[in-house]
Amino acid sequence: MQKYTLPPYRIKMVEPISLISKEERVKRLEEAGYNPFKLRSEDVFIDLLTDSGTGAMSHFQWAALMQGDEAYAGSRSFYRFEKVVKEITGYEYILPAHQGRGAEQVVIPELVKHDNMYFISNIHFDTTRAHVEIAGARALDCVISECFEISKYHPFKGNFDLVKLEEIIKDKKPENIAGIIMTITNNSAGGQPVSLENMRAVHKLGRKYGITLLIDGARYAENSFFIKQREQGYENKTIREIAKESFDLADIFMMSAKKDGLVNIGGIIAIKNDFELFQKCQTNIVPKEGFPTYGGLAGRDMDAMAVGLQEALEESYLAYRIDEVKYLGDLLRDGGVPIQYPTGGHAVFVDCGEMVPHIPYDQFPAQAVSNALYIEGGIRPVEIGSLLLGRDPDTRKNLKADKEFMRLAIPRRTYTMEHLRYVAECLINVYKNRKQIKGLEFTYEAPMLRHFTAKFKPVE
Ligand code: F0G
Repeated sequence: MQKYTLPPYRIKMVEPISLISKEERVKRLEEAGYNPFKLRSEDVFIDLLTDSGTGAMSHFQWAALMQGDEAYAGSRSFYRFEKVVKEITGYEYILPAHQGRGAEQVVIPELVKHDNMYFISNIHFDTTRAHVEIAGARALDCVISECFEISKYHPFKGNFDLVKLEEIIKDKKPENIAGIIMTITNNSAGGQPVSLENMRAVHKLGRKYGITLLIDGARYAENSFFIKQREQGYENKTIREIAKESFDLADIFMMSAKKDGLVNIGGIIAIKNDFELFQKCQTNIVPKEGFPTYGGLAGRDMDAMAVGLQEALEESYLAYRIDEVKYLGDLLRDGGVPIQYPTGGHAVFVDCGEMVPHIPYDQFPAQAVSNALYIEGGIRPVEIGSLLLGRDPDTRKNLKADKEFMRLAIPRRTYTMEHLRYVAECLINVYKNRKQIKGLEFTYEAPMLRHFTAKFKPVE
């Protein structure tokens, strides 16, 4: 018996990568203002910044690209894409978008009816939060507290805290809640899944108070796989059936197809049956993304998505996908590195608050560890902590994240287990020398989404 699942594919095309010397890495990082976002990818050996748009397409997808119909309006590509999304979601109205945030900028403002409105999510992704704020609303999170007990097993750490959710609804008044966003999997919690039982309860509350329900489903296929693995009663259902049951519990689906769409670019808006909302989005999409049948994409991109969406629902693919993440997590745990356990769908999240407790939250512990890992092995992770969280929009104070996570996101069908073993070895070395890691202070900070462009210097 194999301890880990084998990849259900072989490699047909390769992209060379190389490791520059340590002296060069030190220099490049300094030039990048100690912000891995500002490194050139050619200076990175193993790029774990994101699993978004970084995966490998299959030969079926490359073949589908050639069928791309580049008509401005009503292309064949659009209709092929629309058919697949309708089949998967069961929703009536489908619009393509250039990526997830494209979908967000079209949908979210349409749900904000007056000042002082709120969106509630298990945890908003950062661009989702930004679009909520741009639309003049506020974003509130209510994930279960077990999510932050990183070493304690819980099968669905992405779940909503249902008591807190209802308290927020009552406190802010249902008429002020623009929507409840179910982020599946819950990226910011560690790619942690949300159970169908929990989604059903959220749906019930939404219906009770007349609130619109949204799914942010960038990684809905991975979420469905976890449900099959861990939730009683779903062992014998197909991934498609589980996904469909999830979609039944919402009114709107927004997706970054750069994750579980297995494409390098693409996004989706799907609306269950609200024709009026669809018409509004159809109008809003034109100046923002493009005509409603291309939404900022080329016809070929929609064809690649139509195929990728279906491949991502194959169980053999998902079994390997989830297991490679677990493999990296297991190696790190064996080496003593504190991680979010169990590992989630797309990444391993390292608890840097615990790893480098000598660095205060506003000197960004996870950013400091990320930089150390780049120097150690040319590996690029990403900070998901107080740097990403930003400042309070009202007081402008640095917000303190519940956890100072460093995320090692694993691109789909891209790296091998050997690459992941190397990542583990490098990070375990960094862990052994963790006391020498220094905090960071800003030399430049943008007013919004600062983590992308910030520059720092190490605190002496
Ligand atoms: N929602 C979730 C849950 C996401 O993880 C992302 C992107 C988006 C929405 C926005 O989608 O990037 O296509 O515009 N997450 C990437 C990440 C960027 O690295 O986690 P997008």
